[in-house]
Amino acid sequence: MATAEQLKALLRSHTEQDSERFFSVVLQVAAHEAKQGHGTLAHELRGLVDKARRQSEFRIVAPPSRDLAGLVVTTTPDERLGELVVAGSFRDRLVRVLVEFRQKAKLRQHGLSHRRKILLVGPPGTGKTMTAAVLAGELQLPLCTILVDKLVTKFMGETSAKLRQIFDIVQTDCGVYLFDEFDAIGTERSRDNDVGEMRRVLNSFLQFIEQDQSDSLIVAATNNPQMLDHALFRRFDDVLQYDLPGPEEAMRLVANRLGPFRSNRMSLANVSKHAHGLSHGDISRACDDAVKEAILDNRKVVSATLLLRMLNERHSAYAVRRETGR
Ligand SMILES: Nc1ncnc2c1ncn2[C@@H]1O[C@H](COP(=O)(O)OP(=O)(O)OP(=O)(O)O)[C@@H](O)[C@H]1O
Ligand SMILES: [Mg+2]
Repeated sequence: MATAEQLKALLRSHTEQDSERFFSVVLQVAAHEAKQGHGTLAHELRGLVDKARRQSEFRIVAPPSRDLAGLVVTTTPDERLGELVVAGSFRDRLVRVLVEFRQKAKLRQHGLSHRRKILLVGPPGTGKTMTAAVLAGELQLPLCTILVDKLVTKFMGETSAKLRQIFDIVQTDCGVYLFDEFDAIGTERSRDNDVGEMRRVLNSFLQFIEQDQSDSLIVAATNNPQMLDHALFRRFDDVLQYDLPGPEEAMRLVANRLGPFRSNRMSLANVSKHAHGLSHGDISRACDDAVKEAILDNRKVVSATLLLRMLNERHSAYAVRRETGR
């Protein structure tokens, strides 16, 4: 246990926002615990300090200081591969990206580079954005999300210059760089607007990707592959195709998402039939809604009837979207 003095020091450093002092007191506590033979606790405390330090370092190098505020959002995700529900073969391809990153030095000795330019293609809510977070979480790298729609609307006329700045950071600050909703620049060049801005932007993007020799992972995600130019596909080391979940994946997703709230009388097979046609995101939402309703009704578990009602609500939302053409 921390001593009274250490607790006071922790409180003081917290109120004075002195994080280095805060970490050093925690490390003192860890050392004390190790001496008492509480090795696991000491190890955990040191791990937490390491992680917190890394996160504050990332905040220091975060892009806003480099004139990219509002264009690049930096986070440090905790997501793990196990949380992503995908088919086994698909998982293997993500594992390959992780393994190659971790052993990039070995590959480099043989003149090879790790696969790190990855295009994610698939319908909404199937886990593309989540995959980028998983890659960052597994590799303990910051996730820098480039707001592509802002890049091409707000910065029209200076988009290429902004892209150059972004790729400069890709080079200097190792991380996972996600160009989300990427079709906004990937739009086929022939559909260009009158000023030809998008063509120039796409050309510079292709060039930047091609020239990039950094260690960072560059991930581009789109749910609109037919809008993408063929020249783009060739620039990526891997193109991963996402799909709506099959019955087995829907069952796994429901089981994961409900966790302890799952009633043991619930037939997952039956639930998965009612989830047919919904995305992972919709199924997750339906599970969360069902859990919330159970909690508010003071029930300990989610019944199959409640979950089916929530899944049907998601189906109806689709019907509205179809009718209104959105
Ligand atoms: N394969 C998956 N496994 C587990 N959960 C998932 C999966 N896909 C989506 N989810 C859940 O749905 C949410 C939304 O998914 P995500 O934002 O990754 O979808 P997306 O493919 O990026 O969609 P969009 O094309 O609309 O951007 C996630 O935060 C997660 O909770
Ligand atoms: Mg997304």
